[in-house]
Amino acid sequence: DRQPIIAIDGPAGAGKSTVARQVAANLNLVYLDTGAMYRAVTWLVLQKGIAIDDECAIAELTNQCKIELTPNQDLQSSVRVWIDGTDVTQAIRTVQVTSIVSAIAAQSAVRQALVKQQQNWGKKGGLVAEGRDIGTHVFPDAEVKIFLTASVGERARRRQEDFNKQGQPEVSLKQLERDIAERDWKDSTRKVSPLQKAADAIEVQTDGLNISEVTAQIVNYYQQRL
Ligand code: C5P
Repeated sequence: DRQPIIAIDGPAGAGKSTVARQVAANLNLVYLDTGAMYRAVTWLVLQKGIAIDDECAIAELTNQCKIELTPNQDLQSSVRVWIDGTDVTQAIRTVQVTSIVSAIAAQSAVRQALVKQQQNWGKKGGLVAEGRDIGTHVFPDAEVKIFLTASVGERARRRQEDFNKQGQPEVSLKQLERDIAERDWKDSTRKVSPLQKAADAIEVQTDGLNISEVTAQIVNYYQQRL
């Protein structure tokens, strides 16, 4: 008796956020950016000066902090992200947070706490949830599961475009490719809930497709399923 759920998983920079946001707007569903939650915890760890390998302190921090995701009127940008009352919407997108988020997201206590919160938010369904483990762990009974991919080169190019738009300092394509490949590797080889295509997920390869084409494909799958 819950509303449908669309799960969108895939590696860094495959365009999940933009596509998930558009699909949600299109079908009048709520958009849930789970990566923003791991990023917010990472930001807080850095801010408190906690060592990245201090799993105990990080577990406690994750269990005590309050993460809020509020809608952003502007469809071009992500949701607003708050942790313990601080707006970290911009702060969680820095190179520094990005470079260590995978190490934080690999910690089982962190995942346990955040997945629980995601499942709570998704109880009634009616959402498009985006991340790495949505179809495999968070909402294994999602009606539509999408695995969004693109080549490393294409993803680096898209990331660079994002950085330019956000006015962030220039990072070379080579560096971005290296970062993306490293994050892919960390996310897919970790022990807890590694990035994996769910057996029943539809793989959408997005090289050469634009956002509205990918969005249309997913909306189409959804309408066929219901
Ligand atoms: O999607 P985004 O790039 O914002 O995610 C940041 C990081 O958070 C990922 O590289 C991954 O390590 C972690 N993550 C995760 N599980 C999710 C979403 C994100 O482990 N469901």
